[in-house]
Amino acid sequence: MSQARTIIAGNWKMNTDLESAAALAGAVAAGLEAGFGADVLLFPPAVFLAQVVDAVAGSGHPVGVGCQNLYFETSGAFTGETSAGMVLSTGASWALVGHSERRHVLGEDDALINRKVHAALARGLDVILCIGETIEQREAGETEATNARQLTAGIQGVAPADLGRLTIAYEPVWAIGTGLTASPAQAGAVHAYVRGVFAGLTTDADAERIRILYGGSVKPDNVRELMAVDDIDGALVGGASLGLETFLPIVDFGN
Ligand code: PGA
Repeated sequence: MSQARTIIAGNWKMNTDLESAAALAGAVAAGLEAGFGADVLLFPPAVFLAQVVDAVAGSGHPVGVGCQNLYFETSGAFTGETSAGMVLSTGASWALVGHSERRHVLGEDDALINRKVHAALARGLDVILCIGETIEQREAGETEATNARQLTAGIQGVAPADLGRLTIAYEPVWAIGTGLTASPAQAGAVHAYVRGVFAGLTTDADAERIRILYGGSVKPDNVRELMAVDDIDGALVGGASLGLETFLPIVDFGN
């Protein structure tokens, strides 16, 4: 188990509009109490980053804001892309990289994801690197190999000094948006394995420090048992982060 604070992160994916994004962020911020134990992060669509940063400013409980994706170049002729510097200029300070929808729907590979990790860290963003196996890989006995490969390739070349700004999210693809959640035992086994792989790539001390989040159909009624598992240091929440009535109880799972 990592010694660091739990993270509960909401990944809004391609949902909300300008008005509803600002309203949801403001309502989350207003609903958080100063005593909440978890670090709370919101990942709205990139076009609403600035408004979401504004909406959570001054919250009694700090709320981090980040992008769901970015491009590794700093500027130039890359139509439609968003750089780390642009994200930072909105006041956001986090980046999700390598989400399974980026990998499997948008076709991103490990090499591209690694370049994005480097670009985000170099510009000063904190990074959540997402990894996870498909159902085919799990059924073929390739769960560990898949997660080891995605983690190893994803952080290749990252300087030891930057590891403190890295978080990992284990999200089994078969559990994302499907209502199927990995059991605490299934998730815990992969988290422990991933922490071991990370220790091999870095140091035992780094592996103890790094936070490994679980993602995949996290809901108010399963968050507590998942968070009770050693090696699960938080949650990356998709669908349930879009409603106050489901997100706040997840944030408040410890109470
Ligand atoms: P879900 O999504 O909670 O809707 O399964 C999680 C994610 O994709 O980050």
